[in-house]
Amino acid sequence: MTISRRELFLGAAASLAPGTSRADGGGLSRMVVRSPRPEDLEMPPEGFSEWVTPIDRFFVRCHTYTPNVKLSDWSLKIDGRLEHPLTLRIEDLKKFPRVELVGVLECAGNGRRYYEPHVAGTQWADGAVGNGRWAGVRLRDVLRKAGLRGSAKVLLFDGADVPLGKMPDFQRTIPVAKALDPDTLLAYEMNGQPLPVEHGFPLRVIAPGWAGDSWVKWLQHVEVLDHEFEGFWMKTAYRHPTRPVAPGTSVDASEMVPVTDLAVKSVIALPSGWARPGPVRIQGTAWSNRTPIRKVEVSTDGGRSWQAVKLAGPQTQYGWRLWQYDWRAAEGRYTLMSRATNADGETQPAMAAWNPSGYLWNAVRPVVVTISAQAPSANDGAAPDMAYPEGYRTACFGCHDDHMMRQQRLNRSQWEREIDKMTGWGAPVRPENRDAIIDYLSGQFKP
Ligand code: HEC
Repeated sequence: MTISRRELFLGAAASLAPGTSRADGGGLSRMVVRSPRPEDLEMPPEGFSEWVTPIDRFFVRCHTYTPNVKLSDWSLKIDGRLEHPLTLRIEDLKKFPRVELVGVLECAGNGRRYYEPHVAGTQWADGAVGNGRWAGVRLRDVLRKAGLRGSAKVLLFDGADVPLGKMPDFQRTIPVAKALDPDTLLAYEMNGQPLPVEHGFPLRVIAPGWAGDSWVKWLQHVEVLDHEFEGFWMKTAYRHPTRPVAPGTSVDASEMVPVTDLAVKSVIALPSGWARPGPVRIQGTAWSNRTPIRKVEVSTDGGRSWQAVKLAGPQTQYGWRLWQYDWRAAEGRYTLMSRATNADGETQPAMAAWNPSGYLWNAVRPVVVTISAQAPSANDGAAPDMAYPEGYRTACFGCHDDHMMRQQRLNRSQWEREIDKMTGWGAPVRPENRDAIIDYLSGQFKP
């Protein structure tokens, strides 16, 4: 679990940063801030010790700024290939039967930073995941009332978030079969509270077993289509290849499919880094898609030998499973690993399947721990201040700050592609400054 002191410090600073809309200023200090605005906040490793992840530790992923929806102005429109298009206010929704489930929400890009070669995007370590208690109504019940037509193929979800510059609106679809799954919900509560604003108040999609990109937040429009949707976030982003590709290759989006199911995975919560000799409890969580976890094994010798561990805590279909292993540790340096297997017999691989956007990373990850009577001395590796190149601040700090850039590890041509993407979205890069900006980025934030 390598969360550096610097990242933790950034977490503390962010609770003071202006522009964050969260009420729980204290809680935010527990998060690893990948970007303060748009908010990309990662759960710290100790979150893997709890069964239901508290809201103040639950990861947040936003493509754009968090919209502040007023309930008095809000309604959900449901139209398209339906017999009776509906407009529902929150009171109308609450008349449908209330359903609750505990389930894992994981960002498709969780673990992206572990892929080699590195790819662009939020550089999540392990914590873009949480186990939430979601409550709301079945999407199926609402669709029954609206009367799905036979030609219905996909449901297009749109939230109240507004794109920045010329970036495409974040709109996503799920197929009708997933929409009719009794566990697919429209949730208005999280962990027994109204949905917090950063988690999609007043309504979000719950697509259990699937990655977070389908769990659209601030939902205000559902359109039933009789054809596939051509938008950027379906046809370009959130796609991965179905066959193995050589790491570093580019793959055309048309040869990839949308990310759906999560992959079987486990994470070690504790110990992190150092522990005293004697009894040491190794503990963490494991999860999969809709298939329960069957076993978790732990290695304390870098994968040479494995021991089955005790699964603990409640078991639900979509929730994660806690596990623990009591180890007697002598002084030394050890490489710990955990490996989960689900009831379908799928086991975490030694290497995750590299893909161009770095989705669904689920490899067994070595964690080095030092067992010694003496605590190690902390070494704060703060990065030196840097002088920015001409035009960089103007071109790049309009929508987000440099958290977005500093976490990347990209080569020159990858940086060129990022600049082209951002220019397309409206970044005012002057042609005479472009090369210097690319020199700077590819010199500072390289593989
Ligand atoms: C018009 C607004 C805007 C400007 C200006 C802008 N960006 Fe972005 N950028 C965004 C948004 C929005 C995201 C987040 C997209 C997401 O989370 O999916 C982003 C994300 C990124 C990322 C993360 C990787 C990715 O592609 O999502 C990098 C790196 C980045 N920007 C670099 C830059 C650089 C360098 C500049 C200056 C040339 C710049 N940005 C200027 C809007 C902007």
